[in-house]
Amino acid sequence: MPKKKIILTGDRPTGKLHLGHLVGSLKKRVSLQNEADYDEMYVMIADAQALTDNADNPEKIRENIIEVALDYLSVGLDPNKVTIFVQSTVQALTELTFYYSNLVTVSRLQRNPTVKNEIKLRNFEANIPVGFFTYPISQAADITAFKANIIPVGEDQLPMIEQTREIVRSFNHTYKTDILIEPEAVLPDNEKALRLPGIDGNAKMSKSLGNGIYLSDTKEEVKRKVMSMYTDPNHIHIEDPGTIENNIVFTYLDVFSTEDHFQKYLPDYQNLQELKAHYQKGGLGDVTIKKFLFEVLEEMLEPIRAKRSYYENRIEEVYQILETGSKKAVEVANKTVNEIKEAMAINYFEDQELIQKHVAKYQNIEK
Ligand code: TRP
Repeated sequence: MPKKKIILTGDRPTGKLHLGHLVGSLKKRVSLQNEADYDEMYVMIADAQALTDNADNPEKIRENIIEVALDYLSVGLDPNKVTIFVQSTVQALTELTFYYSNLVTVSRLQRNPTVKNEIKLRNFEANIPVGFFTYPISQAADITAFKANIIPVGEDQLPMIEQTREIVRSFNHTYKTDILIEPEAVLPDNEKALRLPGIDGNAKMSKSLGNGIYLSDTKEEVKRKVMSMYTDPNHIHIEDPGTIENNIVFTYLDVFSTEDHFQKYLPDYQNLQELKAHYQKGGLGDVTIKKFLFEVLEEMLEPIRAKRSYYENRIEEVYQILETGSKKAVEVANKTVNEIKEAMAINYFEDQELIQKHVAKYQNIEK
C-alpha cells in the first residue's frame, strides 16, 4: 500500500492573521489544497496551545478563534477539502500528550531552540508555566493523532517537527510498534518570504509592535500603513541616491511584485531591477515606490477582503464549519488513541489475552 499523504498544520488564535502568515504559511496551504495531491488535510486552530501562555486571558483566545477561521476561509481554504478544527475539542490530544511526556526529558525540552527563544521573549526566566514548557510534546500529539506526515510551517517551527520525530521514534522503539509516523516539515517556496519584517523595519510582524498589515485591514488602513513604511532615512530629497538594503518597501516588493505588476501599474519600468537601479542612483521618490507597492498588495488583498466579508455575514455557518471539522477530528484522533493504548498494552478491557492469563493465574491456586 503506498504511504498516505496526510497534511496537518495550525495556528495559535492570539490575533488576526497578517501578511507574514500569508506568505509564511497560508499560501502554501492553499496551493497544497488545490494541488489535491493528498489523502487528508487538517488545519487546526490551536487554542489549547495558545492558553499555555495566556492562562489568565481566555477571552483573548475565544475572540480570536473566529478571526482566524475567517482569515482561513478568506484566503481560500475550502472546508469541503480541508478539515478545519479547534484543538481543545479533541480530548484525545491531551491524553496523548500525557503518555508522550514520559518519553521526553526536561533537558531535551530546555534545548528546544523555539521554546528557548520564546521563554526569553516572554521574560519567563524561571517562572515558565509547565504547560508552556511542554507544549512541544502537545504539538507532537497534534501531529501524530492524525498520523500526519506533511507539516507546512514557517522555519521557526522546525525544532517542533524535529522533537516530534524523536517522540515518534522513541514511542515506536519503546513499545515495539510502527504505528506512529515521522512527519516532515514543508517550508514556504519563496525564501525571502520566510521572514517578512514589520512595516517599521522590525524583524517580526507583531501585534504588540503594531507593525503588521492584516488580511482583514481595510483598503484605507493598508494605504496608511504602506505610506508610513520604513525606507531609507537618509533619502531626503528625490535626487538623493537611496539604499535598498533594509528598505522595507523593497523588501516587500522582492516578495510580492512581478513583471506583470510593472506593466499594469508602473510601465516606466520593466522590472524590479530597473526600479532598484533608479532608486540607488537617485531621482526616484519614496511616494512612487510606496504607491506601486500599495497597488501590488491591493491586487492580492482585495479578493481576500471580499471573501472575508462574505463569511462575516455568515458567522453561524463559520461556527458550523468548525464544529463539523472538530467532530471529524475527534473521531480520527480517538482511533489513534485506541491504537496507542493497544501498543502500550493498557487497553485492559479489550485485551482478552490479559484477562485469560489472569484467569489461569488464579485458577490453580488452592482455595
Ligand atoms: N506552534 C504553531 C504556531 O505557533 C501552532 C501549532 C500547534 C502547530 N500545533 C501544531 C503547527 C501542529 C503545526 C502542527 O504557529
